[in-house]
Amino acid sequence: MQKLIVGNLKMNMENLSQRDSYCKEFIEEFSTLKTQNHAVVCPPMIYLEYFYKTLKKTNVAIGAQDCFWELYGSYTGNTSPKSIKSIGAQFVIIGHSERRSYNHETNEDIVKKVAMALRVDLMPIVCVGYMTGGEEMDNIKSQVEAITQNFTLEELEGIIFAYEPVWAIGSGKTPTTDEIHTMVMYIRSVIASSHGKECAENVGILYGGSVVAENVTELCTNAYADGVLVGGASLSPRKFAQIIRMLN
Ligand code: PGA
Repeated sequence: MQKLIVGNLKMNMENLSQRDSYCKEFIEEFSTLKTQNHAVVCPPMIYLEYFYKTLKKTNVAIGAQDCFWELYGSYTGNTSPKSIKSIGAQFVIIGHSERRSYNHETNEDIVKKVAMALRVDLMPIVCVGYMTGGEEMDNIKSQVEAITQNFTLEELEGIIFAYEPVWAIGSGKTPTTDEIHTMVMYIRSVIASSHGKECAENVGILYGGSVVAENVTELCTNAYADGVLVGGASLSPRKFAQIIRMLN
């Protein structure tokens, strides 16, 4: 089965020469990469168009790291999902834990963003994971239910979830294969309770948090995840390509 491997470059490459050398190395790596899997790279918003145009010759799709919940208007500093779509991006990460914590994004904000992304035919990658106090399962349940309660079966099948335990992000620590498998199954059970088993099985669920080439098979294939969301390791096109090769 095809896996989805998403690279989240976060707020890195803070000048044009870093951006250019990343894209140059990326093309070198990916022009020879043979894979049946699907790769997406999500650069900082300011480079979205450049990445789209420059990486066109590879088979890698482009995604944004966030979007706003309106298509246009007086919303200083925000980016319309329509603008993101119009430059050629196909995906948008929504509700990453770094946005939930530094930008105080709530489940309500995330639902509005997902709705607008779907409206312009961008595929949302909704991050869920332990955030506040209390039980991890309860946290995740409320994050997933915010989505299941607000979207139809057809809409849900166009949404991808990414299970990302906050403590695993950037820490070099990961849950065990069994723990990830349990959470993936749990997310599917929450989806199944409102939208049925078939829908729950069709929704893509990724794992994210300290994924590298050495652990990706364990954390993805063996844990029955549909792919991975990669932060740190995607900052090296060589390491990102290695992760994709491991899943071939
Ligand atoms: P990491 O980040 O791979 O550096 O842990 C993952 C993420 O934040 O999505």
